[in-house]
Amino acid sequence: MGLQIFRTKQITPDDLGDAGLNRCLSKWDLTFLGIGAIIGTGIFVLTGIAAATQSGPAVVISFILAGLACAFAALAYAELAASVGGCGSAYGYSYAAFGELIAWIIGWDLLLEYGMSVAAVANGWSGYFNNALTALGMGLPEALTKAPKMGGLINLPAAGIILILMGLLIIGVKQSTHTNNAMVFIKLLTISIFIGIAMFNVNPDNWHPFMPYGWFETLPDGSTRGVLAGASIVFFSYVGFDAVSTAAEEAKNPQADLPFGIVASLGFCTLIYIIVAGLLTGIVPYTALNVASPVSHALQLIGYNWASALISTGVIAGLTTVMLVLYYGLTRIIFAMSRDGLLSAFFNKINVNTQTPVRVIVICGITMAIVAGFIPLGDLAELVNIGTLAAFVLVCLGVMVLRIKKPDLIRPFRVPFGHLFPILGMLSCSALMAFLPALTWLRFIVWLALGLIVYFVYSIKHSKLAQSTLK
Ligand code: ALA
Repeated sequence: MGLQIFRTKQITPDDLGDAGLNRCLSKWDLTFLGIGAIIGTGIFVLTGIAAATQSGPAVVISFILAGLACAFAALAYAELAASVGGCGSAYGYSYAAFGELIAWIIGWDLLLEYGMSVAAVANGWSGYFNNALTALGMGLPEALTKAPKMGGLINLPAAGIILILMGLLIIGVKQSTHTNNAMVFIKLLTISIFIGIAMFNVNPDNWHPFMPYGWFETLPDGSTRGVLAGASIVFFSYVGFDAVSTAAEEAKNPQADLPFGIVASLGFCTLIYIIVAGLLTGIVPYTALNVASPVSHALQLIGYNWASALISTGVIAGLTTVMLVLYYGLTRIIFAMSRDGLLSAFFNKINVNTQTPVRVIVICGITMAIVAGFIPLGDLAELVNIGTLAAFVLVCLGVMVLRIKKPDLIRPFRVPFGHLFPILGMLSCSALMAFLPALTWLRFIVWLALGLIVYFVYSIKHSKLAQSTLK
């Protein structure tokens, strides 16, 4: 048993092959899937908060730094998605590169990342949704829009939207993708309206002082600020491009289309972020942006009330796509872990009518709806970044390990310049982790410890890999 946990999974054509899921996603569907997951709470909410409290107008630099770290990781994802395949994303790649124990840890980590992201974004969605209802004179009472810790009873819209998405995912991936593509379009239109208005209303004085809090400092209360701390917060804006890799088994031509989808969606979003962050801090003083809806708020401040309302509507659609894709990714990772025997086989049944893993979709949906209803946004969001960054570090390392262990593996896409980019990816993602608060680290470690218990109590005995190697 001692060595079993280090046994790696062989890469077979089946990993890129058919498991009963419907192969219907084109490279543009995948790119839209990525954009759907990436642009969301980060740019619409965190940009303002990071500018006001962490980076000042230099939040643009925070975005560039976080984007660079993600770019290195995205290239690593692209190489592994094309060569290792499977719908398990970083979990599946770790299984091939490092063996079962690390694969389990990273799979467990991804459950945290995806599950918490959906619940966190649902909280942000609920805020915008209730704003819109209030504007129509139908605002919900506070008890139904806030978690108990924030003085309410339950965040009902947050729980409700997750249950609606659950229904959409059950119907089937193609229908969901159509919905996703339509909503991504609305989201991009929203951003275009903002850019179109903001570019004619910039006051360069707002960009001074450019870096009011410096690069990095720790305050007496333990919190951190500066452009680097800002980068580790706005990193959340990029979370989601990795979800493209979880669609490997539903992609028409995964080896060519996954690298395209991952790199294209991340590149496009990075560009948009830099433009939006620059304009947002250019139209109003950065100190005015510490609000729940900074983009709409800034437009209101410069007198564009109609655009502000339009943007709020677009944001509601935008946040919906983020939840949809991350939710989709979560179910596929559980599906992959269950198929490998590390989670119960109960989870890997595909419903013959819908061709979707209905059980996983329902269990995840109900769990996340409860979490989103009762736990506030801040507590949820801070865990997402640390979990994601840990996965990115391992994916970069996995590229190097696999090149050494399996040099003959067919790699339709290779990260250029040898090991340089994967090393830079590991360094930059580790640095962003280091800028996160100690409490976040503690929660993350507790989650991983829980995962190890599950592994040694259940998974190690039921692993398909272990069973096949014992025969
Ligand atoms: N990147 C996603 C967002 O910003 C998670 O909402």
